[in-house]
Amino acid sequence: MERIIIQGGRRLEGRVSVSGSKNATLPLMAAALLADSPSVITNVPELRDIQTMADVLRSLGAAVSFSANTLTIDPAGFANTEAPYDIVRKMRASIYVMGPMLGRLHRAKVSLPGGCAIGPRPIDLHLKGFEALGARIQLEHGYVIANAESLRGADFNLLGASGSSVGATCNVLMAAVMAEGESVIHGAACEPDVVELIHFLSRMGASIEGAGTSTLRIAGGKALHGVEHRVIADRIEAGTFMTAAAITRSCIVIENAPLHHMEATTAKLAEIGVAIEPADGGVAVRGDTGNFRPTSITTGVYPGFATDMQAQFMALLATVPGTSIIRETIYVDRFMHAAELNRMGANIRVLSGVATVEGVERLSGAPVMASDLRASAALVIAGLAAEGTTIVNRIYHIDRGYEHIERKLRAVGAAIARVSDAEPEPQLPE
Ligand code: UD1
Repeated sequence: MERIIIQGGRRLEGRVSVSGSKNATLPLMAAALLADSPSVITNVPELRDIQTMADVLRSLGAAVSFSANTLTIDPAGFANTEAPYDIVRKMRASIYVMGPMLGRLHRAKVSLPGGCAIGPRPIDLHLKGFEALGARIQLEHGYVIANAESLRGADFNLLGASGSSVGATCNVLMAAVMAEGESVIHGAACEPDVVELIHFLSRMGASIEGAGTSTLRIAGGKALHGVEHRVIADRIEAGTFMTAAAITRSCIVIENAPLHHMEATTAKLAEIGVAIEPADGGVAVRGDTGNFRPTSITTGVYPGFATDMQAQFMALLATVPGTSIIRETIYVDRFMHAAELNRMGANIRVLSGVATVEGVERLSGAPVMASDLRASAALVIAGLAAEGTTIVNRIYHIDRGYEHIERKLRAVGAAIARVSDAEPEPQLPE
């Protein structure tokens, strides 16, 4: 088991560069299966989730190579219609292969993804879309099995009780581009990751209108070819570095931040009192303005405030004098980090999907446990600001979504190191 150890209380300074987006890359990897020739995807972050998706594609017969942030996916051998439990259980986004399997092979047997630390995560909307396109769905022995002799275009709505679904929109879209005739998807998600998939599919030869809106119109049945594509920068990683600058009351320059995808995040930071200014080759994030105010945040679908930034803002607001309110509308149980932050001296109460955060003078370092990917990021940034030593356990979560996080934070002056149980703890600078 590996842990991250942080000696907190240091000011950060310097430059940090944002990697390619994990969540944008995953659907592109699945979409590469739809082509009749190889695709090359660049600016891909070196992360565990990307490796897991590469394994899923290999298990289906595709050839995948990944080095120097470049993925090459050759779908020539794509013929297997079963994605096994052993691989799928490692990552929910494995379900993305279902659309391409149905679209090209007319059958898909995929292990049902289970729940996770942020609560139940159903796939009913994915299945609703596949059924609308003509697939028959059965659930058997923990697997979802979909069959369709042929897929035909249809007009349907994918809106769920908590709004649109990124996963369902991407998955069903990949089947719809293979279906004969026109499809209209209402209630589609508008996240940059969905727009990125639409750009990728369009360059492969698909015909899709409405990118970035809730209605997508697809003229299906076109043969698709492989393409070369550079992935967009990771808005959540960029936002995490911004909260790191803010919580340590420091100024850092962030390179490659996709600010046009981050308006809800930057608007909240400005409201709190963080200055965000253009800087040579990037954006300067100044947490040293000396005038922070509490705020209220409600998570929502894009362009609303991303649920994937909620935990990091909770850590930041825990250090801002006054009362802040955080409402989680996407995953109401996504508050596991609150209790861990309280172990570090925060004062946070959670009731029915609402967290009340009373800002405290200072956080104090403690051993804490990461429950999910973004929770681990929140604990790391809390550790940067806390007095003394913080040990973040179960750090494997962070490797699913943050490329070289401790190396990047060390480069801007953080005292942070990774250790495995077998090694002695490192001597970090005070
Ligand atoms: C993606 C992101 C995840 C982010 C989430 C919300 C990836 C790999 N993951 O997850 O980091 O937190 O978007 O921005 O890109 N829902 C249903 N039925 C379904 C599907 C979803 O009810 O069939 C609900 C979910 O429980 C949730 C909401 O819809 O309440 C949004 O989920 P969705 O957008 O699908 O999230 P993911 O694509 O799984």
